[in-house]
Amino acid sequence: MHIGTPLTASATKVMLLGCGELGKEIAICCQRLGVEVIAVDRYEHAPAHQVAHSAHVIDMTDPLQLEALVAREKPQWIVPEIEALATDALAWIEEQGLATVVPCARAVQLTMDREGIRRLAAEELGLPTSRYAFAASREELEAAVKGVGLPCFVKPTMSSSGKGQSYLTAPEQIPAAWDKAKSGGRVDRGRVIVERRIDFDFEITLLTVRALDENGRPQIQFCQPIGHRQEQGDYVESWQPHPMSARALEAAQAIAGKVVEALGGLGLFGVELFVKGDQVWFSEVSPRPHDTGMVTMASQLQSEFELHLRAFLGLPVDTALRRPGASAVIYGGVEGAGPVFQGIERALAVPESRLRLFGKPIAYPRRRMGVALAAAETVEAARQRARRCAAAVQPELG
Ligand SMILES: Nc1ncnc2c1ncn2[C@@H]1O[C@H](COP(=O)(O)OP(=O)(O)O)[C@@H](O)[C@H]1O
Ligand SMILES: [Mg+2]
Repeated sequence: MHIGTPLTASATKVMLLGCGELGKEIAICCQRLGVEVIAVDRYEHAPAHQVAHSAHVIDMTDPLQLEALVAREKPQWIVPEIEALATDALAWIEEQGLATVVPCARAVQLTMDREGIRRLAAEELGLPTSRYAFAASREELEAAVKGVGLPCFVKPTMSSSGKGQSYLTAPEQIPAAWDKAKSGGRVDRGRVIVERRIDFDFEITLLTVRALDENGRPQIQFCQPIGHRQEQGDYVESWQPHPMSARALEAAQAIAGKVVEALGGLGLFGVELFVKGDQVWFSEVSPRPHDTGMVTMASQLQSEFELHLRAFLGLPVDTALRRPGASAVIYGGVEGAGPVFQGIERALAVPESRLRLFGKPIAYPRRRMGVALAAAETVEAARQRARRCAAAVQPELG
């Protein structure tokens, strides 16, 4: 494997589709290796735009715009950071041999739709999941909830970050859940999944890397489990390693390994699992770095972003833990353009702490604007440090 020089004819080029905080870290890892970064998002000055060699604003759900940009820029790799993409165009680009879609177009297509990945995991691979059913109308939803049982979650099949999701404890809540799913989904296909609630002890993200071994053959490796806490379908805090029994860890790795092997391609995957005692259920998977995995910037030798890049470039990876770590999300708190973050000196006075301020041009109260990272002797101490660091940062209107 060789790497050329950015902005010359020999450049090794990566096109990022989606330029949020995760894309920004992938871009920085590319920059360090002298890989040219072409950053694409739907709005100007997105986080990764600010650290890329070139920045583009297009509608990434439009196949024509996507194909035209790929034809013009000629990247060797296309790295999706979000789900809302014209995935059929990506499949066509891959088929034509124009670029390699990371990890592969099929994985991107299957995981953008909760139905695709759920049927693959539960029906083809036979992995344990929550009970589920699909519905395409309010009447079908009533039947689906009856079949699956309460309490349950209703989610648009095309959605992420908790958008359009409802938690139901009584049948009276069905009409409202249907309306919320219809309005909160990404692409309104009017289809929802009903999932029976799993009464888990804790949930984890198992970062799973499919990378080439020394013989050039794809091999699966696991990071230590990441524990996290979700509020309103959004992660607020994560930590690594999350303690779990040897049997549960073995089951988690078996599930994650099967899913990733079935999706294929090279890269890092965020496998979300629910755990109760020694029992493990598959929940969902991102074929890319995971938001809860930002903790790896404090806890691992190679962050999830570096692992992703190294894996898809065909380079060796090391998933080892460096030290227990934690991350805590910093929300906008206020609404407006050009927010100012006060208290940085107090935040960074916390031992072994680091900050990421994403540089998003506009703040909303519940928008993720930054993350505090910390390491320590124990996970508990790291969590306290990350929370303290995050709490010290105070967003204000500029
Ligand atoms: N079947 C379920 N049982 C228990 N908790 C669930 C279930 N489905 C979702 N959740 C909770 O909601 C969170 C978000 O759901 P998820 O399916 O991961 O949606 P998203 O794609 O928005 O991340 C999960 O991390 C978990 O905390
Ligand atoms: Mg999730």
